[in-house]
Amino acid sequence: MDMSVYNNNLEEACAKFRAILEKQLVRVENMKAQGDFTDYDALDTIKIGICGGDGIGPTISAEAERVLRFILSDLEDAGKISFTTIDGLTIENRIAKGKAIPDDVMDALLACDVILKGPTTTPQKGSGMPNIESANVAMRKALDLFANIRPVKVPEEGINWVIFRENTEGGYAVGSSGFNVTEDLAVDFTITTKQGSDRIARLAYDYARKNGMTRVSLVTKANVIKTTDGNFLEDCHKVGDLYPEITTDEWYADIMTAKLVDKKRRKDFQVLLLPNLYGDIISDEAAEFQGGVGTAGCANIGKKYAMFEAIHGSAPRMVNEGRAQYADPCSMLRACVMLLNHIGYTDRGAKLERALDICMFEEKKLTITGRDTGATCREFGDYVMETLKGL
Ligand code: IPM
Ligand code: MG
Repeated sequence: MDMSVYNNNLEEACAKFRAILEKQLVRVENMKAQGDFTDYDALDTIKIGICGGDGIGPTISAEAERVLRFILSDLEDAGKISFTTIDGLTIENRIAKGKAIPDDVMDALLACDVILKGPTTTPQKGSGMPNIESANVAMRKALDLFANIRPVKVPEEGINWVIFRENTEGGYAVGSSGFNVTEDLAVDFTITTKQGSDRIARLAYDYARKNGMTRVSLVTKANVIKTTDGNFLEDCHKVGDLYPEITTDEWYADIMTAKLVDKKRRKDFQVLLLPNLYGDIISDEAAEFQGGVGTAGCANIGKKYAMFEAIHGSAPRMVNEGRAQYADPCSMLRACVMLLNHIGYTDRGAKLERALDICMFEEKKLTITGRDTGATCREFGDYVMETLKGL
């Protein structure tokens, strides 16, 4: 076969590939040079940015902000905590500016210490919208939020899982930089670095140790994706060796999705540690057992910044059908628990968690159905605050 007809395509592809690799090598150097985690105690004021997003985002974020301010009111009055509203992370504005995160929004984000973020719409190829990168993914990368932590709890079934999803690498690192080599041939890339695997693994094992958990399950497809997943596995094991009291086991992502529906086996899982894409998929499956993605929040943790959000999307259909006020704020309230814990107010975090468990699982005076058959987002927020007062 005469390859010379493809010479131009191949040269172009090699140049693009080189540019991708160069950027990733810069990222590796930056990781090597990175300092320690922010010490929130040492800050005069912890700046919390509230970034509503779009779709149902502004509704559920506003409710979460109301509850958070209620919990932190004394600290806000004392100047230890400040709140800023960050507008402009809407799909309309992002399309108008042609950027995943418009510059002024990025500046506002960078001026905060932690961010509570509502869901944002992610345009998909062929949807008719410009194919800009997901705002979530862009923010995770720009603020180097390398750990996505997603707890799932179903107390009556003994389920208490904490999913540690690597958040800046894998299929997401250059997810928007794949290209068509020829009309017929397309490529995307998946990326693993030693530093990237090491830092997420350390956080996962540390969490297990601090919380008395005894098992970390590594989830990959290293039987097929041999190099990147293989390296991830190897680097996680190296970290695991530093925690002799914790058992490490390995699962392939396909069988893990199956085992999570196995009622007898699934309660034995504790911490799951996974590359980005498997973490994305398995965390949605896991959240379904707890009542759906609408009930699940997550923490995106980096050394300098941290961002807390729902694990679900912006549900534009609810808005189009006039149902935004019935959106479930529980995912964002769970994210607030993680925010409070992260900035060092663990007693307040525990209280909010307790109130949410009462409202969502135990007392259940109000139910959210997403329609006028259930409570509104605001009514649920009031219910949570009333419950907090009694604790
Ligand atoms: C999530 C979401 C995002 C992701 C989307 C919206 C890009 O599914 O936070 O899990 O894939 O990470
Ligand atoms: Mg997801």
